[in-house]
Amino acid sequence: MMDAGGTVIERLDPSRLDELIEVQTEIFTDYIMPMKVTREFFLDFLMSVGGDLRNVLVATRNGKIVGYINPVIDAREGWIGGVGVVPSLRKRGIGTMLMKAGEELCRSKGVSDLYLEVIEGNNRAQKLYQRLGFSATRKFLTAEGRPTKFEGFGAMPGRASMSDIIALHAKSYKDTCWQRRKIESLVQSARASDCYKVEGGFVMTRTVDTSGFIPFLGVLPETRGKGIGTSLARFALSRLWEQGAFKVVLYNVNEDLPTQRMLDKFDFKVTMKQVEMFRRI
Ligand SMILES: CC(C)(COP(=O)(O)OP(=O)(O)OC[C@H]1O[C@@H](n2cnc3c(N)ncnc32)[C@H](O)[C@@H]1OP(=O)(O)O)[C@@H](O)C(=O)NCCC(=O)NCCS
Repeated sequence: MMDAGGTVIERLDPSRLDELIEVQTEIFTDYIMPMKVTREFFLDFLMSVGGDLRNVLVATRNGKIVGYINPVIDAREGWIGGVGVVPSLRKRGIGTMLMKAGEELCRSKGVSDLYLEVIEGNNRAQKLYQRLGFSATRKFLTAEGRPTKFEGFGAMPGRASMSDIIALHAKSYKDTCWQRRKIESLVQSARASDCYKVEGGFVMTRTVDTSGFIPFLGVLPETRGKGIGTSLARFALSRLWEQGAFKVVLYNVNEDLPTQRMLDKFDFKVTMKQVEMFRRI
C-alpha cells in the first residue's frame, strides 16, 4: 500500500525495533497521557497482551518509520494495541492507512471481532475510529486511592498458586476489557504480584516503588453480592499499607454500578476513562 506522499505500510523488521521505540516516544509526546516508551516497556506490554512483534506494521517514508500499528490476534478476536503517526505527518491519511492495513492483517488471520480502547478526550483518535466504522461499546475506569489498614477482612485469604489464579480468573473475568480477560496478561501480572484466594474469589497486590496496585480482584459470578469483593479489597488495601505504598492505582475496571459502589466505599477517585470500541470485520 502506498499513498501520494510515498508512505508505505510494511511489516516491522525486528532489527528496527529501536527505531520504532524512538518514533513511539515522538508520537506520544503530545498524547493525552505523555509517555516515554522504552524497549523493555514495549516488549513487556506486547507479551502481556499476547501480542507478536511479527504482526506490528509500520508506515515508512523515504525508508524512515513515521507511524505504527500493533494488531494483537487471538483466534476470532483481535485488538488494536496501539496506533500512532509522528506529529509532523498527521492529517494526511497515514493513520487511516495503518488502521486499514491492521484490519486487513487481522481479517487474513481469521479475526471477525475487532476491539480497541481510546482514552476519553482523545477526540482525534476516536473520530478516526468512528469514521472507520468502530462504535463505542462501554467504558473502563482507572481510579486512585489510598492504602488503609483494616482490622479484619472476613475470611483470611491464603496464598494462591498460578493454577488457582487461572481457574478463578477464567470464571470471574469473562466480561472485562481485553487486557484483563486475556490469560497472558493474568500470568504476567501474577508473576510480578502477591496472589491470594478465598472461597469464591482472588486478589493480587503489587508495589512498584511507592505505588501500590491491585492488578486483579475477581469474585465468581455465583458468589457475588455476599461481601467477598469488599473483604478482598480490605485485605489488599491493608497489605499495600503494610508494604508502605503511598497510593493505590486500579487500571481498567468495569464502569458498572457494583464497581462504582466499591470505589465510593474506599474513597477511590476516577482519574481516567477508556472507551472500548468495536467493529465486526
Ligand atoms: C490518532 C492518529 C493516529 C491519527 O493519525 P493521522 O495520520 O492524523 O490520521 P488521518 O490523517 O488518517 O486522519 C486524521 C484526520 O485527517 C483527515 N485527513 C486525512 N487525509 C487528509 C488530507 N490529505 N488532508 C487533510 N486532512 C486529511 C482525516 O479525514 C481525519 O479527519 P477526521 O478525523 O476529522 O475525519 C494520530 O493523531 C496520532 O498518532 N495521535 C497520537 C497517538 C494516539 O492518540 N493514538 C491513538 C491511541 S493508541
